[in-house]
Amino acid sequence: MVAIMEILNIVDLGKDFYLHTPGLEIKSCHGINLTLETGEFIGIVGASGAGKSTILKCVNRSYLPTRGEILYDSAAFGKIDLTAASEREILYLRRHEIGYVSQFLNAMPRTTAKEHVMNALILRGADARSAEAEAKETLSHFRLPENLWELYPVTFSGGEKLRLNLAHAMVKKPRLLMLDEPTASLDDKTKLLVRDMLQRLKGPDTGMIGIFHDIAFMEGLCDKVLNISEGVFVS
Ligand SMILES: Nc1ncnc2c1ncn2[C@@H]1O[C@H](COP(=O)(O)OP(=O)(O)O)[C@@H](O)[C@H]1O
Ligand SMILES: [Mg+2]
Repeated sequence: MVAIMEILNIVDLGKDFYLHTPGLEIKSCHGINLTLETGEFIGIVGASGAGKSTILKCVNRSYLPTRGEILYDSAAFGKIDLTAASEREILYLRRHEIGYVSQFLNAMPRTTAKEHVMNALILRGADARSAEAEAKETLSHFRLPENLWELYPVTFSGGEKLRLNLAHAMVKKPRLLMLDEPTASLDDKTKLLVRDMLQRLKGPDTGMIGIFHDIAFMEGLCDKVLNISEGVFVS
C-alpha cells in the first residue's frame, strides 16, 4: 500500500494587486484554503477573472502572495513555505519538483521540440545523451509525431504545442503538477486525447491541480472540484 500524504497545504492565501497609476487596489483572491495529497487531482473551476490563475501563480511563485502560507512537502527540503522560500530554493523546485503547464508554449527561440524537452533534463544535471533518450521517450508517450521533433515549435498547432508542454513538464516527473486551462484552445478530439494523457499522469507520486473552464471535461478525472467566484472558494 502506498502511504498518502499531504503534498501541498495552502492556508488563508490572499493576493492583492496595487495599480499605482490609477491608484487602484484589485483583490484577486482571498481566504483560499486547499489541501492536496499525493496521487490526488484537484480541479478548479470559475468564471474568467475569478482568481484561478492567481492561485497557481502564487504556488509557482510567479506572484508573491499578500497573505497566507503555501506549505509544500519537498523531496529535497522537507516542508517549505513557498511564500518565504529563497529564490534559489524556488529555482531548484521548479527544475526538479514542480511543473507548470499553461495553454501557452514558453520555449526558447531556435530550440527544436526535442531540445526543448532535453533542456528540462540538462538543467537538472543530466548529460546530453541520456537527456536525448528520455526526451524521445517522453515525446512518444505524449504522441508528438516524430517528424516534428527536429522542428521549431512556433509553427505547431495548439494541440501539438500542448503535447510538447506536457512532455516538457512531465519529463521531470514532478511531485506537484499545475495545469492552467491546458485545453482552452483545443478541439474536442484533441481535448479527449489530453484527458486520456492526464488520466495516465495520475499516479501515486504526483499531486495535480488543474484549472478547466469545461466542467464536463473533468468528469471522472478530478478527485475533487473546487468552485471559485470573485476570489473565494464557494460550495
Ligand atoms: N499581474 C496582475 N496585475 C494586476 N491585476 C491582475 C494581475 N493578475 C491578475 N490580476 C487580476 O486578478 C483577478 C483574477 O485574475 P486571474 O487569477 O487571472 O483570473 P482567472 O484565472 O480566474 O481568469 C482579475 O481581476 C485580474 O485582472
Ligand atoms: Mg486564468
